[in-house]
Amino acid sequence: MPRCVVVYRSMYGYTRRYAELIAQALDAQLLEGSRCQPSEVAGCNLLIYLGGVYANRINGWRAFYDRCAPRGARIILGAVGYLAGTEADMQRLWSTNLKPGEELPRFYMRGGFDYNRLRLGHKLIMRTMFCVLKGNKNLDAEMRSLLDSYDVPADYVTLENTAELITAARGLLNPGS
Ligand SMILES: Cc1cc2nc3c(=O)[nH]c(=O)nc-3n(C[C@H](O)[C@H](O)[C@H](O)COP(=O)(O)O)c2cc1C
Repeated sequence: MPRCVVVYRSMYGYTRRYAELIAQALDAQLLEGSRCQPSEVAGCNLLIYLGGVYANRINGWRAFYDRCAPRGARIILGAVGYLAGTEADMQRLWSTNLKPGEELPRFYMRGGFDYNRLRLGHKLIMRTMFCVLKGNKNLDAEMRSLLDSYDVPADYVTLENTAELITAARGLLNPGS
């Protein structure tokens, strides 16, 4: 039976919840990325890496890929961010996190945001950004929703959001079925 491993990095739990849903649906092994050793993923047939997005970078992805990516395995990359995921967002996200020619199957899932749960450093960054946004009278819908999240926590994690990634993973694990 092909072996599938889900590796994730998550600061506030949104990506971890997606990773748990995906691992359960695929009957895959689940590993936390910061402690993951190359030997733990060696020999797997499909590796799914999921990371939260911070300043447009997928948490831990590049370091994990360079250090641990198993030779011969298929890899799916999943990013979990707060933004709605417009075409422009996606273009920026993938061009920042994938090198030219790295054609991995990639998926974006919406996570969540709760200002009150942020670590101090993140609070300071986000507070500065919210102040800048508040002063702008011409915000688009996406920036307006980001500003709203300052007062009202948002959580978009659903099983439904994992459907495309899971279908792609099943296709790679059982080609032709
Ligand atoms: C400092 C900071 C920077 C962030 N930058 C982005 C970003 O560039 N794009 C995005 O979509 N979300 C961004 N987010 C939102 C996170 O990606 C979102 O909360 C995600 O669900 C976090 O997942 P995690 O809890 O699994 O790490 C940022 C959040 C913080 C606190």
